[in-house]
Amino acid sequence: MASRIAYVNGQYLPHSEAAVHVEDRGYQFADGVYEVIHVFNGDFIDADPHLARLERSLREMQLRQPMSMRALRAVLAEVVRRNRIHEGIVYLQITRGAWPRDFAFPPAHVPPSLVITARAIPRYREDVENLGERAISIPDIRWKRRDIKSVSLLPSVLGKQKAREAGCYEAIMIDDDGFITEGTSSNFWIVGQDGVLRTRHLSSDILAGCTRGSLMALMEGEGIKAIQEKFTLEDALAAREAFVTSATSFVKPIVAIDDKPVGNGKPGTITRTLHKLYTAHVKAHRRAA
Ligand SMILES: Cc1ncc(COP(=O)(O)O)c(C=O)c1O
Repeated sequence: MASRIAYVNGQYLPHSEAAVHVEDRGYQFADGVYEVIHVFNGDFIDADPHLARLERSLREMQLRQPMSMRALRAVLAEVVRRNRIHEGIVYLQITRGAWPRDFAFPPAHVPPSLVITARAIPRYREDVENLGERAISIPDIRWKRRDIKSVSLLPSVLGKQKAREAGCYEAIMIDDDGFITEGTSSNFWIVGQDGVLRTRHLSSDILAGCTRGSLMALMEGEGIKAIQEKFTLEDALAAREAFVTSATSFVKPIVAIDDKPVGNGKPGTITRTLHKLYTAHVKAHRRAA
């Protein structure tokens, strides 16, 4: 395997030597934002919505953009090229830079830190019938601005670990009123007994997933409708089908929640259709970034 290269504040460095300062605000305060973009055939999947969301996250956090979006695209592509990624993910993180520790923002002249890494992941699997995963439910204990893709991920870290310990892929989070928000690193969807596809509406309660948005646009082209509204864990347990979407999972069937099967415990018809639709979208990608 080729040795890995990371981009750190203007330099392409061997991965093993790549580091930021101990007083980087990302390290000390989780004062930063990030994006994860899927790479397929060396191209970026849904690059435009990912970069648009990044700009929004930066704006909401009053964080300065380290370089123009055009330059950023060039660096992303260079990191992928240097790491010889055919299929993988690229990770990008921007923090409020390094400065002697103080809760308030550092002076305006302090540059933000930009780190970009890339790694290969196993080939995208098309055999959706074998992709069924299990989930657990957990209380959503996150802050109230989940629409910002901030690196402050501790509740998700703890939730994902709980899922792993239960032998599950994802933890589905439940808000204080009993409604499902999303997975720790994915958006959550169900198909009810009425055959209706549902996913929670966008607000500051969830992250506006790029895969979610992209899938909805593809569905519109096919005349497949989804209702965007909140629903409960009971609704999910009574559903015919469930699945999650994210840049790393694409469309992943959820066949059991809290040890109870969803529907017949197998990836459902609509989930399989949507997986196929998204697969075609991934495969059609050409030099999007
Ligand atoms: C909390 C949360 N929701 C949803 C998603 C899915 O977003 P995307 O499809 O842009 O990867 C993620 C991705 O990491 C996430 O962390």
